[in-house]
Amino acid sequence: MEAIILAGGFGTRLRPLTYTRAKSLLPILNKPMIIHLIDSLPSEIDKVILAVNYRKDQIEEYFSKHDCGKEIIINDEKTPLGTGGATKYAEKHITGRFLVLNSDIICSLNLDKMINFHKKNNSAATISLWPVKNVSEFGVVDVQKDGKIISFVEKPKPEDAPSNLINAGAYCLEPLVLDYIKKGRLVSMEKEIFPRIINDTDRFYGFKFQGYWMDIGRISSFLEVNRFLLDLKKLDFCKGVNCIVNGVLKKSTIGDNVFIGSNSDIKETIVFNNVKIGYNVILSNCVIGENSEINNGCKLEYIVVGDNEKIKEKTTLENTIIWTQPKPKDYPDKQIGNAVIN
Ligand code: GTP
Repeated sequence: MEAIILAGGFGTRLRPLTYTRAKSLLPILNKPMIIHLIDSLPSEIDKVILAVNYRKDQIEEYFSKHDCGKEIIINDEKTPLGTGGATKYAEKHITGRFLVLNSDIICSLNLDKMINFHKKNNSAATISLWPVKNVSEFGVVDVQKDGKIISFVEKPKPEDAPSNLINAGAYCLEPLVLDYIKKGRLVSMEKEIFPRIINDTDRFYGFKFQGYWMDIGRISSFLEVNRFLLDLKKLDFCKGVNCIVNGVLKKSTIGDNVFIGSNSDIKETIVFNNVKIGYNVILSNCVIGENSEINNGCKLEYIVVGDNEKIKEKTTLENTIIWTQPKPKDYPDKQIGNAVIN
């Protein structure tokens, strides 16, 4: 069985980290986000099709050096095709029932159970569902007791919401779904295709699950998932290889080859590879990009430092993005349409 992983977005809300790398390679506890997802795939998935576009060379290079235990196919879209278009573009690799997964979600969904639920219902399409409090920020589903979805309602007022369940970004689909998608076009699966499947087949189901679900769309959720997984694993910190740590790490992750000077206090922060942090530095809720330097006496709170940046001694900053280099060519200024309704 095949799984298509959607990993072609620019990740504009995670800039400047995504100026220099594919979003799906952002490290979570020192492991690329996409590997967390691949590790959660059921054993019956033997082939993974990576639907890529932006920074596909980095993704290709990563998988050429790391064996993740499944056959990996890099399916490069020349231009971003959206969730539907990217799925259609992978059609030549699909041999039967298949999964489509967003690469930027960390969750406790049991895909085996979802596939069984799909089979049991003889469903044409099954999507994972997650409950939220703030329904008016999302597309929610109108769903029957048996899990059959009747419609999607976009950003309803709380009093009008048919449920509190949103599309959680994992789909189990029958090949017939592919016949609904036009080739070579930017197509949203959620907005254009799913409503037609509901209408035509009456076999569209939602699979609810419990535990946790985090969409790594923003810097705040990137930091949150780091804290959450450290707590879940009962760790106070996660440290890569070849690090020298003279300061204190609290609920933080540091990559490989990181130096931290004495009296430095690193709290709820993510530090990428090859970073030098001086002495008497305080970092709280920061992300420090690769090859960067934070010099002595700095105090940074809610700061994102891009790759290859240097922060001068005794700098105090709050709530800022540090990026002094040119923006990459062809990188969009803003989000280019949401691939997912949420
Ligand atoms: P933002 O620019 O911050 O919205 O991030 P994004 O570009 O990743 O978009 P979004 O978070 O809506 O995307 C959800 C998932 O779909 C991510 O895993 C993306 O990599 C993926 N994705 C989004 N658009 C495309 C696309 O056009 N093609 C492919 N292959 N994947 C996409």
